[in-house]
Amino acid sequence: MPLDLARVRIEALNDLHERSRFRCSYRRIQNFLRGNICRAQRRNALRAFVACEEGSRTVVGYYYLTATSVEHEDVGLEAAVDFNQFNKIPAVYLGMIGVHTTYCRQGLGTELMFDIFRQAEEVANRVGIWALTLDAVDEEAAAYYERFDFQRFKPGSLEMYLPIDTIRAVNETRREADEEARLEAERLLAEAANEEAVDQQAGEGAPPAERTIGA
Ligand SMILES: CC(C)(COP(=O)(O)OP(=O)(O)OC[C@H]1O[C@@H](n2cnc3c(N)ncnc32)[C@H](O)[C@@H]1OP(=O)(O)O)[C@@H](O)C(=O)NCCC(=O)NCCS
Repeated sequence: MPLDLARVRIEALNDLHERSRFRCSYRRIQNFLRGNICRAQRRNALRAFVACEEGSRTVVGYYYLTATSVEHEDVGLEAAVDFNQFNKIPAVYLGMIGVHTTYCRQGLGTELMFDIFRQAEEVANRVGIWALTLDAVDEEAAAYYERFDFQRFKPGSLEMYLPIDTIRAVNETRREADEEARLEAERLLAEAANEEAVDQQAGEGAPPAERTIGA
């Protein structure tokens, strides 16, 4: 079924969202949303965000984030040095991400991922963290994350990370693109208003019709 991404909102999960009809090819991702997610959120184990179409509370996609930490020996030398005063390296963990099967491959997963990047940057602006980490369920999922430049902790591993510096750079590029699009839309609007004013002036300046005909 086609999804109009312009009409999709991503918002914090609450008890009023309709979760019981969410379908996902990974049962664990489907059943967690249908089941215990609100309880886990109430207990502060995670924060979940859901995508719904405008005016609807039915969840068409979701993800959740929680905090985690990584051992020094699992990261590169630079990160290990940056965090050498701590026992472990702090990170944000993407627990689950899923899109309703009916709406897969229409860009919603990408929108959710960019929302995750914004959240990760906000966390990083308040708490020191090194990266966004996750465990891909299988090779296909890992390939999906590699599209966003996630790296594997070890060759062949399904544990992956994306440094917060990379996330900031991606967000910055997107903010610049949004700003350019906004300015371009403003420019086009001003141009259209200008043309309309010129047309109107030309209309007002033209001699009355009967005089033109009688000339
Ligand atoms: C993975 C998932 C969240 C992606 O969401 P989506 O809305 O289908 O993704 P998008 O439409 O934004 O896809 C973006 C691109 O990734 C590709 N892609 C989508 N799912 C993919 C997958 N599982 N593996 C590899 N590439 C994938 C798409 O073809 C698309 O490429 P294109 O832009 O060249 O056409 C969704 O398919 C899903 O819920 N899958 C089941 C659950 C799952 O695997 N979760 C991750 C567990 S770790």
